[in-house]
Amino acid sequence: MRIIKKLKVLLLLTAIISTTLVSSAQDKKLPAPDKKGGSSLMEALWNRKSERTFANKQLSDQDLSNLLWAACGINRAENGKRTNPTARNKQEVSVYAFFADRVCLYDHKTHSLKTVTKGDHRKLIAKGQDFVLTAPVTLLLVVNLNMYDKIEDSSFLMGAADAGIVSQNINLFCAAYGLSTVTRATMDNDAIEQLLGLVDNQFPLLNNPVGYSK
Ligand SMILES: Cc1cc2nc3c(=O)[nH]c(=O)nc-3n(C[C@H](O)[C@H](O)[C@H](O)COP(=O)(O)O)c2cc1C
Repeated sequence: MRIIKKLKVLLLLTAIISTTLVSSAQDKKLPAPDKKGGSSLMEALWNRKSERTFANKQLSDQDLSNLLWAACGINRAENGKRTNPTARNKQEVSVYAFFADRVCLYDHKTHSLKTVTKGDHRKLIAKGQDFVLTAPVTLLLVVNLNMYDKIEDSSFLMGAADAGIVSQNINLFCAAYGLSTVTRATMDNDAIEQLLGLVDNQFPLLNNPVGYSK
């Protein structure tokens, strides 16, 4: 009887440990974003341009951290506000990262990447523009109008404006750090909505492939 009890405890412990390992393997805590770095804002504005070629190299964790934080990370811990302004502070833009082996959601609260699904789904983003497949990561900007108190005619415009701001944060960060990127609207929206399990009034709006310059 005692042995059975011990076995049960052992099994429970094994289950707890393996669950912890699985979730930590699927979630990637990013290093803290830099406080300084890159070129000046004026230089970044001079250098900003759409670039569609990328070096065959993964982004370092630090560059990925800085990129995601620049896109829409928290820059005021006291009130949870972010690098990107949003209409009425509804914070309705989420950023997904499409890698060659998985798709992750950027969790701005913990500054980490949560795996949503495994596999290479970048073709859905490329939709025929094959240069996208050569970027190590593409950031997808998804707008959720359900964050608004009421969805009105102007809501879509607000969501589009807010996504545009996130995309420009990415553009300016890349220009300041010598990375390549381009704002894109092309993608297979329906298939992406299905892949990510998006709900009504939540939709992909823009994407930015990002990589080191060639
Ligand atoms: C809302 C928006 C959507 C765009 N969609 C695409 C796209 O699907 N594919 C692409 O290659 N470039 C796309 N672009 C990039 C434009 O073609 C590019 O910004 C324009 O040619 C000006 O070049 P520049 O960014 O170097 O100034 C898009 C730009 C914006 C702002």
